[in-house]
Amino acid sequence: MADESTPHSAPPGPREPGRTPISRKGLLKGALLAAPVPLLLGGAPALARSLRSPAGEGGRLAPTPYCDDGDDPTPPQMEGPYFKPHSPRRTSLVEPGTRGTPLTVTGHVFGLSCRPLAGVLLDFWQADDDGAYDNAGHRFRGHQYTDGRGAFELTTIVPGLYPGRTRHIHVKAQAPGRPVLTTQLYFPGEPRNSTDAIFDPALLMTVRTVGPGKEATFDFVLDAEGAPPPTTPPPGPGGTWRAGTDYRPGDRVEHGGASYGCLQGHRSQAGWEPPNAPALWRRL
Ligand SMILES: [Fe+2]
Repeated sequence: MADESTPHSAPPGPREPGRTPISRKGLLKGALLAAPVPLLLGGAPALARSLRSPAGEGGRLAPTPYCDDGDDPTPPQMEGPYFKPHSPRRTSLVEPGTRGTPLTVTGHVFGLSCRPLAGVLLDFWQADDDGAYDNAGHRFRGHQYTDGRGAFELTTIVPGLYPGRTRHIHVKAQAPGRPVLTTQLYFPGEPRNSTDAIFDPALLMTVRTVGPGKEATFDFVLDAEGAPPPTTPPPGPGGTWRAGTDYRPGDRVEHGGASYGCLQGHRSQAGWEPPNAPALWRRL
């Protein structure tokens, strides 16, 4: 079985100035996967420090580059024309009758200090096997949260090609209280990678063929320190937001003396209070 990937640790082409090789992340991930969970929960920061590179890099990773979608009619919005809010919470985008090459994408989300970030919201959307987006429903759209080790797993298919772009998966990633990162993940060895002006080799996944499908990995680095999520302040007088509640798009809550409208259905959790989660709540 040939590994057809371009290793994420050594993407071809130019790098961002100061962007550090991702191989340290691979090392860290390997250590993370090998370590028992109790050690991770208590010892991840020390582990990250121990794996930092020596002088010259400051022990910090560069954030995953922002990547604008070339077919975005309003470039500052960055997500392109096919993003839709209100995606269902699910880790598998495969539905009965789905056609295409099976694909799993796994990885971790790290902060700048190499600490895995738990509870990061990842919202994926992609084209189907024919290169078409579902703009009427939510096929091939779904969001999930990284687990306590900062890990995620997406079950989907290899997205089809559509005119003007190389093969890609869209994703929005947000750590609690931090800005939304909108970016895209790419596949190595795609002929159109060399002609797509939006393509960034730093966003190449590592991909290998396994039986009839593909397995891909990618680690995000967000502009976050990996500190514990903000504690939940007690709602102010009249506050109605509560953790552990299933909110639907359009729901309205009060929190900290302000009103918010729900943008995306989700189960609320500590650290994702409305002021911390612009992907989920809009201040009214
Ligand atoms: Fe796209």
